[in-house]
Amino acid sequence: FRVPAVDNEPMRSYAVGSAERRSLEAALALMQQELPFEVPCIVNGKPITTGKLAKQPIPSNHAQHLCVYHEADESTVASAIDGALSAKAEWEAMPWNDRASIFLRAAELVSGKYRYKLMAATMLGQGKNAWQAEIDAAAELSDFLRFGVKFVEELYAQQPPKNAAGSWNRVEYRALEGFVLAVSPFNFTAIGGNLPAVPAIVGNTVVWKPSPAATYSNYLIYQIFTEAGIPPGVIQFVPGPPPEVVAQAISHPSFAALHFTGSTFIFKKLWKDIAANIDKYKGYPRIVGETGGKNFHIIHKSADVRNAVLQTIRGGFEYQGQKCSALSRLYVSSSVWSSGFKDMLLSEAAKITVGPPSNFSNFMGPVIGRPAYDKTMGYIQKAKDAGGEVLIGGNGEAASMTTRDFLDDSVGDDSKGYFIQPTIILTKDPQSITMKEEIFGPVITVYVYDDADYEKTLELIDSTSPYALTGAIFATERKALLTATNKLRNAAGNVYYNEKCTGAVVGQQPFGGGRASGTNDKAGSISIFYRFISARSVKENF
Ligand code: SER
Repeated sequence: FRVPAVDNEPMRSYAVGSAERRSLEAALALMQQELPFEVPCIVNGKPITTGKLAKQPIPSNHAQHLCVYHEADESTVASAIDGALSAKAEWEAMPWNDRASIFLRAAELVSGKYRYKLMAATMLGQGKNAWQAEIDAAAELSDFLRFGVKFVEELYAQQPPKNAAGSWNRVEYRALEGFVLAVSPFNFTAIGGNLPAVPAIVGNTVVWKPSPAATYSNYLIYQIFTEAGIPPGVIQFVPGPPPEVVAQAISHPSFAALHFTGSTFIFKKLWKDIAANIDKYKGYPRIVGETGGKNFHIIHKSADVRNAVLQTIRGGFEYQGQKCSALSRLYVSSSVWSSGFKDMLLSEAAKITVGPPSNFSNFMGPVIGRPAYDKTMGYIQKAKDAGGEVLIGGNGEAASMTTRDFLDDSVGDDSKGYFIQPTIILTKDPQSITMKEEIFGPVITVYVYDDADYEKTLELIDSTSPYALTGAIFATERKALLTATNKLRNAAGNVYYNEKCTGAVVGQQPFGGGRASGTNDKAGSISIFYRFISARSVKENF
């Protein structure tokens, strides 16, 4: 039998007065009434309260906490690893249709019964507006699970094309020997669910350390997995402390793979730590990571200005620039810049409203926490010190509307929540710091190039930053698109023509980048599953 055909989860509109809007508002109100929640570690299906308490603050109102969670201690992590190893044989031996069915059921629970609860947890805890939460916690998460099952069905069906007379060749797709460590980020609830799910779909058992800043939404996902039928021990939920949990897992002899999304700095550190432990392991661990970006838009003189502006605003400022794919450096042809692009860009940025996501009229919410706030504000200051001109945000013109409640005319304000205005900086130096380094906040730095220097600018894009995650080219001339595609061959794992550099869709644009941005194993595609299997060839003579 074949698993059912899959499709992307349809997006809901959340228009004023719509049923989904009312349901989401009700879920938010209930969550606000009941918080803070208590979150245990879960090992072998049993809650463990270590008493080592940590809090997940609400970034739009940091006086409040969404949850208080029990950090894993050494013995909890040790039991999580032992339990994962014990659960493995039975999990891997479960018939594929049963394993597949569990994840399809989980997808239904995500997109149906728990949709609004997961979205509310993502809005309150991770600061996403309703539409960003819909893309992430409802659509992308259920897509990851449904398409994941379909990809694995396709993978399992791949068999050697030839058998010699009187024999039969088979390939068995085994799970890895040992356990997988999943370390997930705060910025996508969907990635929280996908990092443990990918290895588990192909029969691995997983120790999952969620991000401290996404503990509650990730705990809800854990509960959904359990309700869907994932047996105890297959996914172990061990929230922080991150360095200790990760170090303990990596130094275990049965550590078989790391499935990571997070910063380049931490990923490199873990890679070195794994190398330092190499003699302890039974095998060579698989290391799969998706890390930072310094993503670009280049606007050619032939671009459709209105589209390029709107896509730029969305790419740079949706979710406060906290997507690894977010636009951060913008290269604009001088003729386009001076004939409407600049004015339209600034007037669109000025319309952006900033404030708590529970108010649906806010386009932008808070950044995730104090360190993110300080880092972003620090980069704005460094850009100014280096001669950058703040065109909006920063100490320039204040963004309008609800921003006033929080910011007045100041650059940013963290007295209540970690709010930063959308900021656009013009630089004359294409090598300046905010053209090079990842900020992970709502800041776009613009460099205006001479129309005649299009090719030179493409070379600049390729060589300025160590990252290679996403990029977009805006041009109506085919030749300009082609030139860019060729010159930027290794500068991005995901490239878009005339569309923003964020928002890869599962099953449509496999996602990931190279260079310092990761191992480019492509989330949302069949390729990622190959990293978590170890094939065995069997030849039988009749
Ligand atoms: N996949 C997301 C995007 O493309 C980022 O993680 O925006």
